[in-house]
Amino acid sequence: MSQPSAIINVMAMAAKKAALGLVRDFGEVDQLQVSQKGPADFVSAADLRSDEILRRELSKARPDYNLITEESEAKPLNPDQPTFYVDPLDGTTNFLHAIPHFCISIGLVEGKKPVAGVIYDPIKDEIFWAEQGRGAFVNDRRMRVSSRSQLNSALLATGIPFKGSKGRMEKFTKQLNNIAGQVSGVRRMGAAALDLAYTAAGRYEAYWEEGCYPWDLAAGIIMVREAGGMVSELDGGDQVLHGGTIYASNANLHDELRRRLTA
Ligand code: IPD
Ligand code: CA
Repeated sequence: MSQPSAIINVMAMAAKKAALGLVRDFGEVDQLQVSQKGPADFVSAADLRSDEILRRELSKARPDYNLITEESEAKPLNPDQPTFYVDPLDGTTNFLHAIPHFCISIGLVEGKKPVAGVIYDPIKDEIFWAEQGRGAFVNDRRMRVSSRSQLNSALLATGIPFKGSKGRMEKFTKQLNNIAGQVSGVRRMGAAALDLAYTAAGRYEAYWEEGCYPWDLAAGIIMVREAGGMVSELDGGDQVLHGGTIYASNANLHDELRRRLTA
């Protein structure tokens, strides 16, 4: 196993620290489901607490780096420094409904290129991590994208547009219609960072979604690439971190799936 570098250790320790609070709060959500008010306020407080811990830990370890989190206000970036993109709770809707599938995602980006990433699923205790040129790992095992090349045995993941994503449903329905009958299955698990981590781990052959943010994607992009997979925009463009559409897959099926999805 490759030894995690200093920066991966910093990111992993921050994620594990923030996750302690998330796991404790997740234990409460079940109780709150039945209350009149519901757990929504409680969950956004859990999200903010996680955000705060991550900001504190990362800026303590790397005070000069830029730091963008889903829950904090964007500050002007210093272009000479790398940027952490942090999602303190990816899979918020799952968390809110007491579904144990969520994670913390921390990506490190230089210029526009993700160079390191950590994604931690505290319920399954799986930590996915990758660094440019050093490979991708889940816990201490090396990750590789799947080698399946047959469309009919491929399992795909996606994100279905939801409230506030007006105008995307028609396009999505067409994509789904193009692909669902050709493959072994399509999953909508509800945490974009884990969709990418699972693609890197060879659990899915591919994942696509429109309307994601850099904090959903930065860590997962480097993971899929370091696991031997390919990542682009669905139309083939390379503005993948900020472009809004992500398409990640194993190398064998990349072109064929993209052709079908965009037909
Ligand atoms: C969302 C989840 C979801 C994806 C959305 C994301 P959040 O992030 O990753 O799977 O479909 O695009 O915004 O709101 O749970 O952090
Ligand atoms: Ca997210």
